[in-house]
Amino acid sequence: MTATRPGAPGPVGTDTLGGHTSRQLLGLCEVVGLTAHDAEVYARTLTAMLGAAAERPLDLPPPNPTFLSDDHTPVEFSLSFVPGAAPALRVLLEPGCAAGDLARNGRLGLRAVREAAARWGVATDRLDELEDLFLPPSPEGPFALWCALELRPGGVPKVKVYLNPAATGRGHAAATVREALRRLGHHDAFAALPPHDRHLFFALDLGDWAEPRVKVYLAHQDLSAAEAGALSRTGGPSSTGGLARAGENEEFFRIAAGQDGAEDGGAEPAPAPAVRRPVQSCHAFTESASGLPSGFTLYVPVRDYAPHDGEALTRATALLGRHGQDPAPLLAAVSALTDRDPQEGVGLVAYLALAHQQGQPPRVTTYLSSEAYAVRPPVGLLPAQPATVR
Ligand code: TRP
Repeated sequence: MTATRPGAPGPVGTDTLGGHTSRQLLGLCEVVGLTAHDAEVYARTLTAMLGAAAERPLDLPPPNPTFLSDDHTPVEFSLSFVPGAAPALRVLLEPGCAAGDLARNGRLGLRAVREAAARWGVATDRLDELEDLFLPPSPEGPFALWCALELRPGGVPKVKVYLNPAATGRGHAAATVREALRRLGHHDAFAALPPHDRHLFFALDLGDWAEPRVKVYLAHQDLSAAEAGALSRTGGPSSTGGLARAGENEEFFRIAAGQDGAEDGGAEPAPAPAVRRPVQSCHAFTESASGLPSGFTLYVPVRDYAPHDGEALTRATALLGRHGQDPAPLLAAVSALTDRDPQEGVGLVAYLALAHQQGQPPRVTTYLSSEAYAVRPPVGLLPAQPATVR
């Protein structure tokens, strides 16, 4: 297992987190048709933003127990499929992962984002306005700051920053989200959010976006397909329940979660694993006049609803087909990430998502794990050893 990383240089034991993830990134850039030059630039960006963690040998444990991915790799990739073009490649990372505690993690992350933004000519003023809310001196919670880059042609990415609503305590998360929305001019946005269990992330688009979004991510425990379909609060042109039609989201949920009854004629779904990650919804605000979100995304943690990645990929392929998309880049991306057989583990495909944004066609997004540290065994097979493979 350890010797099978694609393109791994030299003997096993000499590879680093930065080396491993940047080789994966180079392979993915090729899949989506970015030039070799852009790919090199983005691979250097990734290692620079990981800071000291990039140099860390892969046979040491992960730099911190980040929940960015299940095996604590502080990097996750995604492919977002749009009609008539190559999918967009994005990389989510934790720039402060080398820090020893959460306060330093946040400070390091903020500094890395500001430095990179300055190089790209990207303004961070909207982030600066929120620093006291999300990056207090003694932060709480599972993370401080993550950053996602959308790797466009030309070497300058689009930038998104993810912040923790519970940074000043879980009990303050709602008030923090409300205040952050208010500071950014979205006075009525908080009241537009659907019922939920938890505020998970507060995210900002920075830089060169046609319509930069402010996004609120919510967790929903134990949802039915019909409830998932009813989460969107977008306005928009459709008379059948707004821009993100309930039926479309409901169908997406059923297929992604394996509850479409395709094989069993509609019988009860297979029993769930003991602990499943919640379904998430994201509500994107771009203007404040309507008080309503202009975008809605439904995220299904397919890895908790499928026995192995072979099944997750079958569902992803079905969903892409329904939305008129060629699954070939997804399958090529999987080969760029790992040599393992998809059936030999679960979690390479972390989430499947369906996004509706006003003025744009719906997008299917597949979130793909690096698995730099471990592969979760498939369901139904007792692992011969613990899940960690190195
Ligand atoms: N790993 C975390 C989770 O599963 C955070 C995360 C990473 C996430 N990528 C994501 C959440 C994509 C939603 C969508 O919750």
